[in-house]
Amino acid sequence: MPAAGNFKVCVCGASGGIGQPLSMLIAMDSNVAELAIYDLSTAPVPVQGVAADLSHFERKCKVTSYARDLQSGATPSEVLKEALTGCHLVMVPAGVPRKPGMDRADLLKVNIGIAQEIVEACAKFCPDAIVGLIVNPVNSVVPAMAELYRRKGLDSKKIIGVTTLDVVRANKFVHEVTGAAVDQINIPVIGGHAGSTILPLFSQDAAGKTVPADKLEALDKRVQDAGTEVVTAKAGKGSATLSMAYAGARFASAVLSGLAGERRTECAYLESSVTELPFFSQRVTFGPKGVEEVHPIGPLSAHETKRLEAVKKQLKGEIEDGINALPPAS
Ligand code: NAD
Ligand code: LMR
Repeated sequence: MPAAGNFKVCVCGASGGIGQPLSMLIAMDSNVAELAIYDLSTAPVPVQGVAADLSHFERKCKVTSYARDLQSGATPSEVLKEALTGCHLVMVPAGVPRKPGMDRADLLKVNIGIAQEIVEACAKFCPDAIVGLIVNPVNSVVPAMAELYRRKGLDSKKIIGVTTLDVVRANKFVHEVTGAAVDQINIPVIGGHAGSTILPLFSQDAAGKTVPADKLEALDKRVQDAGTEVVTAKAGKGSATLSMAYAGARFASAVLSGLAGERRTECAYLESSVTELPFFSQRVTFGPKGVEEVHPIGPLSAHETKRLEAVKKQLKGEIEDGINALPPAS
């Protein structure tokens, strides 16, 4: 593993609403020496243009771009070969966002194919890299892509669902309710990343514990529905992009710091044995080998214990939906 400051990262879907600001924040991470960005030639902004723009930052990071022209017949693997070779981390915000009235699960059919072509290429060209999947529905896409790695004999714990935005939101909302310093708040958010599978553990944080009992349920619901809050406010023009880019950069920074030997802990969704479900989001410590420790859930309040049952019920079906949507091994 290279020393701190020498990592290569690829962002797939880099011209999109999340992809552009995420690429910007990653290019500014002092651990990143090279950023490869990838998108389709049909993207709203040519990925070469995004790269030209990013390459003018007064930072050491070298930026390269890779566009897949659908007319040319080039496969994702052909275009991604150079982008992915030597990568330590691949972030995937490629995919379709939801519109008002849709659930994240409605995106499975279209987004699983997009995730699959990118993850297949990762398996070929950077099988040791951590793959951070932002593409929805995270609850189903991650189990499917982990299964794809498992079938190839690769480490399925390299496939990680990015749920950091749920933590970011819970922290901000607890700050608003309690007035506690926002940088001192760290609410673990466990379970999954859709509706009632999102379970903030307010009882495990000093400020979270002080939320008045009569406000807890509404706060819990607000964290669950925060994505829909943005989808509704954007009125058909997409979902959270800027807050997601912020959260994705926080996740990327934790992974890269860990690889550089400075262990960091974030909540993330991956193959797990902390509950009877095969996939779950919980606190995860990243270190030089990637995922070093998947932490137990810890003590729960009565409200959280009850909610955990609802989480498991919905998440179980969504995990199965993802694995069932993966085409059989060829
Ligand atoms: P967007 O439409 O603005 O951008 C998506 C980008 O992906 C586009 O540039 C598009 O050209 C590209 N793309 C599409 N198909 C591709 C393919 N086959 N190969 C490479 N690139 C491809 O969407 P967005 O708002 O950036 O959202 C992207 C995804 O992230 C959505 O699925 C959304 O639901 C999800 N999301 C997840 C979270 C989370 O917390 N995990 C938060 C917000 C959004
Ligand atoms: C979010 O939580 O903002 C994302 O998952 C996007 C969405 O569809 O809500």
